[in-house]
Amino acid sequence: VTPRTFNLALVGFGNVGRAFVRLLREKEQRIRDEYGVAARITGVATRRLGWLANPEGLDTAALPDGRTPACVKCAEVREWLRAARAGVLLEASSLNKRDGQPAIEYLRAALEHGAHAVSANKGPLVFAYDELRALAREKRRRFLFESTVMDGTPVFNLFRETLPVAGLRGFRGLLNSTSNVVLAEIEAGRTLAEAVRRAQEIGVAETDPTDDLEGWDAAVKVVALARVLMDAPLRLDQVERVGIASISPEQARAARAAGKPYKLICRAERRGGTVHASVRPEQVPLTDPLASLIGTTSCLHFDLDVFGLTLIEHKPGVEATAYGLLSDFLRAVREPEAL
Ligand SMILES: NC(=O)c1ccc[n+]([C@@H]2O[C@H](COP(=O)([O-])OP(=O)(O)OC[C@H]3O[C@@H](n4cnc5c(N)ncnc54)[C@H](OP(=O)(O)O)[C@@H]3O)[C@@H](O)[C@H]2O)c1
Repeated sequence: VTPRTFNLALVGFGNVGRAFVRLLREKEQRIRDEYGVAARITGVATRRLGWLANPEGLDTAALPDGRTPACVKCAEVREWLRAARAGVLLEASSLNKRDGQPAIEYLRAALEHGAHAVSANKGPLVFAYDELRALAREKRRRFLFESTVMDGTPVFNLFRETLPVAGLRGFRGLLNSTSNVVLAEIEAGRTLAEAVRRAQEIGVAETDPTDDLEGWDAAVKVVALARVLMDAPLRLDQVERVGIASISPEQARAARAAGKPYKLICRAERRGGTVHASVRPEQVPLTDPLASLIGTTSCLHFDLDVFGLTLIEHKPGVEATAYGLLSDFLRAVREPEAL
């Protein structure tokens, strides 16, 4: 059987974009055999490379070396989507925590073009979830974003597809790897600066770790979860946010020695008609499963009206994020009009 071929356009070709292309190649045969689907990358865009398109497929292997594959260079996103004849946009550009742009505009352009819009970027969920969801429905296309929180772990899809009409009263978890690694290093005797360097060496912390240390990254994830899963009109500035930089190394070590270590805990809870949310270092007893989680392992406990549910993602790497994008791509092409 001839597979249905989909043209994929990627905005952002950094760690996540490249990992996605590797995973797509690795899984190509299974995707063809099990889904009757083939995919080719017909557009790649980054700030430095610009908007590159070739509707016959781009040689992405050339890009990291700075070689230019055979392609046209477009001036902006809409022209690029047309030139790439894009069927699916995969958005993996950098997070803008002020207003989510320009990623929101890229996703909007994709849906208006008639493509599915898949995002690894949390900004659009925080600042434009309602708008993008409505636009996707109007255009009968999918807006999917599984990799934004806990990488490849099915969080949003779990609720959408397997927990019909379950009520989410709140959640609690560990969602920022850098904070988790840095706290562990400090407990082991390092200074904050040394701990951050160590987290950078093992590829967890970014060059500028401020967003992680001040709790911004975790707060953005809390808002994304609350917006989508609790239908809460929560804004980023409404999340009570205290980062791990607020506790001294001495406090962190004393807490660990006393058997109640600090963890950067994310919380949201529905009280009355309002969702209250926080991100802050909290001391947790060793009997709490969160106390023993180390490295990039992340965890979310959901307080549902029907039962409690805990998800733990063990030591994910960037391929886990790539998997979130890949699973969204397959979901979109298999059920293009599902709500
Ligand atoms: N890394 C993870 O494990 C992970 C997990 C979940 C979600 N995410 C999210 O996935 C996204 C990508 O992460 P990453 O680790 O791949 O970042 P990265 O390595 O820094 O790559 C970012 C890419 O986006 C491009 N870019 C940035 N701003 C752009 C703009 N305005 N227009 C077009 N392209 C732009 C960059 O191009 P230039 O290099 O040319 O500037 C680069 O190719 C982020 O939103 C991140 O929060 C990452």
